[in-house]
Amino acid sequence: MDLKKYTADKLTELTELDNAVIASALETPPDEKMGDLAFPCFPLAKVYRKAPPLIAKELSEKLADDDKFERVEQAGGYLNFFFKRGRFISDTIDGIKSAGDNWGASDMGAGKMVLVEYSSPNIAKPFHIGHLFSTAIGNSLARIYKKLGYNVLSLNHLGDWGTQFGKLICAYHRWGDKDVIEKDPINEILKVYVKFHDEAERHPELEDEAREYFKKLEDGDEETTALWKYFRDISLVEFQRVYDMLGIKFDSYNGEAFYSDKMDEVVDLLREKGLLVESEGAQVVDLSDLNIPPCIILKSDGATIYATRDIAAALYRHRTYDFYKNIYVVGTPQALHFKQIFEVMKRAGWDWSEGCEFVGFGLVKFPGKAMSTRHGDVVFLEDVLNEAIEKTRAIVEENDNVKDDKDEVAKKIGIGAILYTFLKNSREKDIIFSWDNMLDFEGESGPYCQYSYARGKSILRRAAGIDYSDADLSLETSDEAYALVKQLNKFSDAVKTSADRNEPFYVNRYATDLAKLFNKFYNTNPIMRDDVPEAVKKARLAVVDAFCTVIKNALGLLGIETVESM
Ligand code: ARG
Repeated sequence: MDLKKYTADKLTELTELDNAVIASALETPPDEKMGDLAFPCFPLAKVYRKAPPLIAKELSEKLADDDKFERVEQAGGYLNFFFKRGRFISDTIDGIKSAGDNWGASDMGAGKMVLVEYSSPNIAKPFHIGHLFSTAIGNSLARIYKKLGYNVLSLNHLGDWGTQFGKLICAYHRWGDKDVIEKDPINEILKVYVKFHDEAERHPELEDEAREYFKKLEDGDEETTALWKYFRDISLVEFQRVYDMLGIKFDSYNGEAFYSDKMDEVVDLLREKGLLVESEGAQVVDLSDLNIPPCIILKSDGATIYATRDIAAALYRHRTYDFYKNIYVVGTPQALHFKQIFEVMKRAGWDWSEGCEFVGFGLVKFPGKAMSTRHGDVVFLEDVLNEAIEKTRAIVEENDNVKDDKDEVAKKIGIGAILYTFLKNSREKDIIFSWDNMLDFEGESGPYCQYSYARGKSILRRAAGIDYSDADLSLETSDEAYALVKQLNKFSDAVKTSADRNEPFYVNRYATDLAKLFNKFYNTNPIMRDDVPEAVKKARLAVVDAFCTVIKNALGLLGIETVESM
């Protein structure tokens, strides 16, 4: 039962105002004592030519007998609604019981395709902490859109093309050793790269050699292509290890290389539309009226670039998937790049490009020695995950509550702690990496949320003999139970807001508040104590059960798994 909707509908009947206007005007009062919902009557003053307090008074009288409301009070120009707690609590708990994992779901996205492009690491380059940020957000958004009924595809736009492959292949021919590389691919490839750059400083002719190799690759030379494919394959094996740890699956790994033969068409289309102009030998789309640099489509040597591949990719996605939204989860330093390509597509008259959305995020900062950097300046994503698991393992080791396999538990909590941190604040905010905050079981953290779920489960285990399926919920109307159930009722709002703004942190905030309210509830209202009457016990158990269902699902939308005991 959505009481906000119910209230909005009632008011629509009485005032004949637009339902959507009323729904957006209805607010949650800052103080519980002022009711569960408040409606400001000020906008009605003009319509009725009456003072707002008088309007509020009249409306409150008309609503006096409504059976969902305990009372409806006028306070100044406001109308304050107090719901019937018992009714509200049992409606909500029944709703969760019958919906199960579908609580909070919607079919608003039915028949619409949402593409979420995220992670997108570069082949033969470190899979670093920035990619983890993208991975955490993208994975969560994909789950959130699915919950709302959209058809969702997760795309990994691999950085597997470009002049750097010429360098890599050149370096490999000169100094590479397959056996050594196979043992520790990314690190060895990195070494070969570094060597190339060092040598090229002294021997600039190496750059020409690299360019030739890339040309060979573009021309489909068999040996060079096989080598490129080899690098791509071993990199994917490395990436896959991390995706397995995170429980992530992609529907497509079509990266930049996939679009390399689809760019001529883009160049032709843009030329036909008269969008291309020459600038220092290159073909560009001039965007000076927007005060941004031109979008380079073809370089002076005829080679195409990143932007062109992205435009080809968007066109391909439109034709293949007819998307409603095409979301790019990429760091804010690339905001300008996306602004440029979106603008070029708009000028090409591609209306569908309105569905393209850039979802940026900030930086990850490591104060002091927060992270041991085993690889120079770059922080490898896999190292961060492993360190989180190791640190959690040490904590779990001392925890006698943990009944399940400790390795599994440490993995879920360690990774949960990281994902939580990346999804805690609005995504454009930088993250200051702190193990202490991340693994603080009592603060706002992943482990804190996971712990409250495990707590709930342990209560339910202790109540194994009690059948609470017929619980009379009107027996548990304490302030704490009411506050908790109101939060349970708001799950779908949090999911929708997250999708609206492409901000998983609304779901994160929701889960954290839910965990806090649950802790307050069971600390104030003993559940399994002997002196608690059986009927009250049952009502409380039903609330605990509903809480477990909802927090597990909320955390699931963040990619965070739960553990049954901790
Ligand atoms: N591979 C790029 C990087 O690691 C990110 C790709 C972003 N996606 C895109 N469609 N351009 O920085």
